[in-house]
Amino acid sequence: MTEQNKPHRPRIVVVGNEKGGSGKSTTTMHLVVSLLKEGYRVGTIDLDARQGTLSRYLENRASFANGSIGSILMPEHRRVYRSQAVTTQESEAEDKKNLEQAMTELWDRDFIVFDTPGSDNYLSRLGHSYADILVTPLNDSFLDMDMLAKVEVQNDELKLTPSTYSQMVWEQRQQRAIQRKKPIDWVVMRNRLSHIDAKNKRDMGVLLEHLAKRLQFRLASGFGERVIFRELFPKGLTLLDLDEKGTGVTMSMSHVAARQEVRSLLNVIGLNKEDVPN
Ligand SMILES: Nc1ncnc2c1ncn2[C@@H]1O[C@H](COP(=O)(O)OP(=O)(O)OP(=O)(O)O)[C@@H](O)[C@H]1O
Ligand SMILES: [Mg+2]
Repeated sequence: MTEQNKPHRPRIVVVGNEKGGSGKSTTTMHLVVSLLKEGYRVGTIDLDARQGTLSRYLENRASFANGSIGSILMPEHRRVYRSQAVTTQESEAEDKKNLEQAMTELWDRDFIVFDTPGSDNYLSRLGHSYADILVTPLNDSFLDMDMLAKVEVQNDELKLTPSTYSQMVWEQRQQRAIQRKKPIDWVVMRNRLSHIDAKNKRDMGVLLEHLAKRLQFRLASGFGERVIFRELFPKGLTLLDLDEKGTGVTMSMSHVAARQEVRSLLNVIGLNKEDVPN
């Protein structure tokens, strides 16, 4: 089959980990707006529909645009709630049906980006099984490292035991290999990097390099700790929107640097226009 005859298939990006508050929804929103700004048609699916942070972020964006700047780039959004069925069999079947329905509705898009909850459930695991690219934001603290693996020192050697989340990703990779699908490209990004604690930052870096080899993920440099991320949420804006007139936010040097971090993430993931085959 020639390249032109290939059936259209959107690229699926899942943003996930099992730790609450590590920046999944913030990262999802920034990836989505970056892709929209590159001219892609983007669909979004909120698999953390009950908490609904991504859905609220997008609602805030639509209201803000209505009230002040007129039009704004928006993805086509779907919210998939977990089934309330009583038996596991029924609820899993319903979750699968609902997620596949949302994906079918968004299938004409170039990208579908999933935001997932900070805890394990069947719907989230199912979402991960579709990932071409999995982006895992990790708070830059040793406490959060156990989301990837338990790290112990034994006889001067590092002993790493993969966490349940890493095992889940490994299982999804196995499943894809059996189905002869392309492997999941797993990218871990550090979030909330401190500007002061240089030693801690270096030690984390060394340990993450070890984990990257062992668990087979790529490391992205990530985002610094910046108040602006919290300030943008109520307006539904991202760092990528701050060039637009009427945002009410004056670009500072810190914002320029932060925006550069988002672009670097896009580069590492390989989502820039020139890198993406369609
Ligand atoms: N780099 C950062 N600097 C400062 N604040 C940040 C940064 N990243 C995220 N935050 C803030 O941390 C909080 C949690 O972020 P977010 O909601 O994106 O995390 P989450 O992983 O989606 O959480 P949950 O597991 O509850 O869904 C938000 O208030 C967000 O604005
Ligand atoms: Mg979230």
